[in-house]
Amino acid sequence: MLGLIVGSGFEHFELVDVKTKTVETPFGEVELDVGLMENKEVALLHRHGKDHHLAPHQIPYRAQMWALKELGVKTVVAVGSVGGMAAENAPGHFTVPDQIVDYTFGRESSYWGEAGMPMTHIDFTNPFDESVRQAILGAAQSAKIFVHNRGTYACTQGPRLETAAEVRRMIMDGCDMVGMTAMPEAALARELGLRYAMVCFSVNWAAGLVEGALDFEAIKANMNHSVKSLVNLLGVLVSANNF
Ligand code: HPA
Repeated sequence: MLGLIVGSGFEHFELVDVKTKTVETPFGEVELDVGLMENKEVALLHRHGKDHHLAPHQIPYRAQMWALKELGVKTVVAVGSVGGMAAENAPGHFTVPDQIVDYTFGRESSYWGEAGMPMTHIDFTNPFDESVRQAILGAAQSAKIFVHNRGTYACTQGPRLETAAEVRRMIMDGCDMVGMTAMPEAALARELGLRYAMVCFSVNWAAGLVEGALDFEAIKANMNHSVKSLVNLLGVLVSANNF
């Protein structure tokens, strides 16, 4: 079964014939939906909670990823909004990132030594699963949605947006887009042996790349527009694959 993790912009996204499940984990309870998409069973997790009350640094990432595994999920596709830093990541553009730089701090970012999990140094050279990345890119092609096939995702702590100097530094570090949720999500997925990849949608230029403060109305408008295309893409992805 595919696990689908969605966040900002997907508050109203629903499956068909939904059953809401509460999964007990060693890290707390997680509520998620199991239902149909294109007549296939999918587990849908709203990472900020259905009413979007959890800020990125408050998300119980360990419980959430554990709950997906507990439900029998083997493959996870996560959707995340980002601010664009590279020219290719202009607002309105989609990217399947291939790398991450983690700028978060203080998040519970490993299962090491907990719940009977062994101390392992997971290989994280390539933080996203290549076969899942290719499946997303293939679905985008079939759905005729243009998606960049690589990019480095900078994960910041949030919930505040960045300063202009922070964005300059992340660009010098080789980052292309900035968001707040890929970590520790991606690392925990790897620790649990889940195949994980992301599709990101740019909703604004990162701080300092255009004059003035970030405009939240413009960000919302970009989001609504992109979410329609992404729902399309996810439909094609689910119908074309047996995850
Ligand atoms: N910074 C961090 N996260 C984001 C942004 C941003 O500019 N836009 C959407 N998510």
